[in-house]
Amino acid sequence: MSELNNIALKIISKGKGILAADESTGTMTKRLNSVKVESTAQNRLLFRETLFSSSGMKDCIGGVILYDETIKQSNPSGKKIPELISDSGAIPGIKVDTGAKVLANSTEEKITEGLDGLRERLKEYYKLGAKFAKWRGVYIISKKYPSKLSIYSNAHALARYAALVQESGMVPIIEPEVLMDGNHNSDDCFQKTSEVIKKCYEQLEIHKVELKGTILKPNMILPGVSSDEKIDSLKIAQMTNKCLEESVPSEVPGIAFLSGGQTEKEATENLNQINVINKTNFIMTYSYGRALQQSALKFWSKDINNIKGTQEIFNHRAKMCSLASKGKWTEKVDNI
Ligand code: 13P
Repeated sequence: MSELNNIALKIISKGKGILAADESTGTMTKRLNSVKVESTAQNRLLFRETLFSSSGMKDCIGGVILYDETIKQSNPSGKKIPELISDSGAIPGIKVDTGAKVLANSTEEKITEGLDGLRERLKEYYKLGAKFAKWRGVYIISKKYPSKLSIYSNAHALARYAALVQESGMVPIIEPEVLMDGNHNSDDCFQKTSEVIKKCYEQLEIHKVELKGTILKPNMILPGVSSDEKIDSLKIAQMTNKCLEESVPSEVPGIAFLSGGQTEKEATENLNQINVINKTNFIMTYSYGRALQQSALKFWSKDINNIKGTQEIFNHRAKMCSLASKGKWTEKVDNI
């Protein structure tokens, strides 16, 4: 177990966090189409390889979550992508769920699938160089949701996944994402997120998952995107930390937040504030997809051969997130 704990710590310690580059081909196609770039396997690789070979990886990125397509690709000079990531000092990881599907008997909600054949797929990913894995459960908030059925069934699936991942010698990232969609307020988000996370740990315990060899990837506590509530980053940080302090067992080494639709600045400022007031022993860092890639993608789309310029933008974002993971970010340094 100390081996898994070591991997987890290596991914999230010392001002490092995770680059979530595991968008499925469908999601990546949406992202590329939004900036008018054709979504071919070659273009998807070119953008990702540009990030993975940037200098910002060395000090700021401890782990990269890959999608099935990417972990099997090599760059034009023949280097395998997991090797390219390891060369930067980061650890390659892999998304292993197969997506969220309609949940029978609560059809507005979703259940994440991918358990069938997972043990065999994990063996293959391990051989390809993965040392950690990710599985995302999604929950919606409204008066009646998330339902008990969704909270229970997603927690159960996350625990079965986590047990299999540890059996195969890798660290499971446990990602229960309570979505920002809707007009709920931050109190609703606090309550529902607490309930969701507590149920996950109940199931993880039943499935005998060693918590020291896991990382939690939760949402921050925020009002819904259509809510009128005005909230500052101090309140967000206070509510987020309170929720995690009350719901996450102390053996868990660290928490790596998803950005979930926040802007790059918001996700950085909120993480910074979380660390400024953090009184727990948890490492609090980032596992951002959009909040690490958005500006870089926009810039890259104007000239996909401008590798250096794209990398400069990614390096800056990664550096800002790294400072935030230590509570040392400021607006001023971000605007330089
Ligand atoms: P975002 O940071 O864009 O929410 O992505 C993180 C992630 O991995 C979602 O599963």
